[in-house]
Amino acid sequence: MKTRAALLMAQPGKWEVVDVELDEPQDHEVLVRIVASGLCHSDDHVAKADGIVAHFPYCGGHEGAGVVEAVGSAVASLKPGDHIVTSFIPGCGRCRWCASGKQNLCVTGALMGKGTQLDGTYRMHFEGHDVARSSSIGAFSELSVMPETSCVKIPQHFELRSAALLGCAVPTGWGSAVNAAEVQPGDVVIVMGVGGIGINAVQGAAHAGATRIIAVDPVALKRDAALRLGATDAFESIAEAADLARELTDGQGADSTIVTVGLLTGEHVAEAFDSIRKAGTVVVTAVAPRSTVGIPVNLLVLAMYQKRIQGCLYGMMSPSSDILRLLAMYEQGQLKLDELVTRTYTLDEINTGYDDLHAGTNIRGVIEFS
Ligand SMILES: NC(=O)c1ccc[n+]([C@@H]2O[C@H](COP(=O)([O-])OP(=O)(O)OC[C@H]3O[C@@H](n4cnc5c(N)ncnc54)[C@H](O)[C@@H]3O)[C@@H](O)[C@H]2O)c1
Ligand SMILES: [Zn+2]
Ligand SMILES: [Zn+2]
Repeated sequence: MKTRAALLMAQPGKWEVVDVELDEPQDHEVLVRIVASGLCHSDDHVAKADGIVAHFPYCGGHEGAGVVEAVGSAVASLKPGDHIVTSFIPGCGRCRWCASGKQNLCVTGALMGKGTQLDGTYRMHFEGHDVARSSSIGAFSELSVMPETSCVKIPQHFELRSAALLGCAVPTGWGSAVNAAEVQPGDVVIVMGVGGIGINAVQGAAHAGATRIIAVDPVALKRDAALRLGATDAFESIAEAADLARELTDGQGADSTIVTVGLLTGEHVAEAFDSIRKAGTVVVTAVAPRSTVGIPVNLLVLAMYQKRIQGCLYGMMSPSSDILRLLAMYEQGQLKLDELVTRTYTLDEINTGYDDLHAGTNIRGVIEFS
């Protein structure tokens, strides 16, 4: 079948919206009509040549929501008409990680970087070439074929435009605070970088009971949004945030600092490391260019101050259960979603959406398909 999708043809490159050929879903796959797709910074890393891609053409998009149109012969959990949110790590449900409540580390997630489906083949083709796709999902496309295990079924009454953010930004940010930083009531928490991911770390930290949540972002609009959604303080630089954290804690420092800047460097982690107290935690959620190695931290301080630097994939969440828990919190007013979607774009406007991400005019831009 034919559909329209935004592809990268080279790195660095701009998204090009073209007609592509899409195969029918195989046994364990579903055909999804994408309704909304969030503009996550991770897809931009690929466009800017900071991110890894197996080959071109490449279809981005991993933060989607849509409606199931058709299912493969072996699909048991979904039927046409079901509403789904995409999970950018598939959850096989059987591997060591899935079985121990760490679905974000599912073994099938290792295939993500290859751009193929789980069986190693392709479903999207452009001018005779196989199209590699983000997370086996490729949500920058009107129609997509994806693994059944990449779909989380949600109740039909939720607005899919806001629900799309549950595919990445919300669980990643929320879980960075609640799971990775293990924020406790009374904590002082710094969130460094308040974009789509960081704003949800702010919400997660507030929910977990932090008394002071210090947001850091050079962009005023982001600081204002953070203050509306749970931050108690906001600064342009981590140095100012660290000063306040020490002032509040008798010179000790923040209990945790969560790093959610757009493009990570070792220096960002080192700044965060200097802002935390003894036995405090730095959570590294932001993604660095593929060749970046090293964090310039004092190794004696690391050991003697018993500091912890904790990497964090997908908020350490198990999407099959946690996306529904987050939706329940949204229904109870404990989690804001609608306020995070600052602007919507058509698929043809995708490059404007990413220009706006760099200009800092959105918390999250979302492609809304007609
Ligand atoms: N670990 C994961 O599972 C995971 C999942 C999704 C995204 N990510 C990564 O998280 C990061 C954030 O993604 P996003 O979509 O929220 O990006 P974004 O561009 O929406 O937000 C990044 C924010 O960081 C701010 N910023 C830049 N430099 C800063 C600095 N030195 N100090 C403070 N703030 C600074 C920017 O102004 C912006 O508001 C990206 O690196 C992305 O690839 C990781
Ligand atoms: Zn993402
Ligand atoms: Zn698994």
